[in-house]
Amino acid sequence: MSAPILVTGGAGYIGSVLTRMLLKGNRPVRVLDRMLHGRHGLEDLAHDSNLSVLTHDLRDPRVHEEALEGVHTVVHLAAIVGDKACALDEELAVQTNWSATVAFARRAQAIGVHRFVFASTCSVYGEGREETLTEESPVQPLSLYAETRWHAEQGILELVNDPVFEPVILRFGTVYGLSPRMRFDLAVNFLAQQAVREGAVRIFGGSQWRPFVHVSDIARGIVMAIDEPLPRDVPPILNLGDNLENYQLRDLKEELEAHVPGVRVTIQPEKEDRRTYRVSFDRIEREWGFRARHRVGDGIEEVARAVRSGVIADPRERRYYNA
Ligand SMILES: NC(=O)c1ccc[n+]([C@@H]2O[C@H](COP(=O)([O-])OP(=O)(O)OC[C@H]3O[C@@H](n4cnc5c(N)ncnc54)[C@H](O)[C@@H]3O)[C@@H](O)[C@H]2O)c1
Repeated sequence: MSAPILVTGGAGYIGSVLTRMLLKGNRPVRVLDRMLHGRHGLEDLAHDSNLSVLTHDLRDPRVHEEALEGVHTVVHLAAIVGDKACALDEELAVQTNWSATVAFARRAQAIGVHRFVFASTCSVYGEGREETLTEESPVQPLSLYAETRWHAEQGILELVNDPVFEPVILRFGTVYGLSPRMRFDLAVNFLAQQAVREGAVRIFGGSQWRPFVHVSDIARGIVMAIDEPLPRDVPPILNLGDNLENYQLRDLKEELEAHVPGVRVTIQPEKEDRRTYRVSFDRIEREWGFRARHRVGDGIEEVARAVRSGVIADPRERRYYNA
């Protein structure tokens, strides 16, 4: 049997989609996850002989050895995710998202791991004003969450000059779409469920730019980061998304009206939100030919269908929110 791919945070929103994609491709997976949001993301995979699950906390350095044994490839998704979740316990966020992440990457390097894929975020760009942001643009993290991801990037980039260890940093856009570990604290998912349940939604603000990306496109991009050669002559950082999926938040009105018939959408005056970033995804298209296969409208439709049909009985349940 080939070496397992270690997926930290593999029971999470993105991790549970990625784990299934890898297993479907006949690739053994080892998940390391402390199950902060429960185990249901992996529930139906319990009997898959290609999957093993370690329920441990990444912050404990003693678990690194066991998790990394015989592993050549790591996808590091485990984190305290989102501005609100990080604000709840700042110390936990700093430890998990920054110090333990860098310590874990160092351990992976020492043990002889080859490819180390790190999940960062386009929110490191913060306040991007009007220009389209590339991997070379200055960052301006505006929350503790974005700050911890940025510091982790820096710690991981210190490890690049190694003949074996190949870290790659993916900056994800804001994710949407259905996952076995569903999150409704993400903008598109939240608005779609509210549109179905209440028939009316309010969008706060409107002019801020956000790059959105479907969760299965994210998983496909991660698989490319596992398999494809890294860009030459530039730091191994790639924005993961698609130029066509940059939206101003007010554009979601049209998308919701098109995909949830009858919904009433109002735009409320701007709230205090300086975060705005329109992102270029030219590098990932040039290097790996990555283009998104889904659009925000597809995500709204699939979430709306799941709520309408009762597949998701009550999107207000606590477990769907990180904070
Ligand atoms: N969802 C998005 O829109 C988005 C956007 C940009 C970047 N990201 C990044 O993608 C990654 C995954 O995000 P997600 O949306 O799947 O979040 P999620 O909260 O659904 O999943 C995170 C997982 O990490 C696990 N975890 C947390 N702390 C841990 C620890 N100390 N040890 C072991 N496991 C731990 C949790 O139990 C959870 O299963 C994160 O690194 C996040 O920063 C996500």
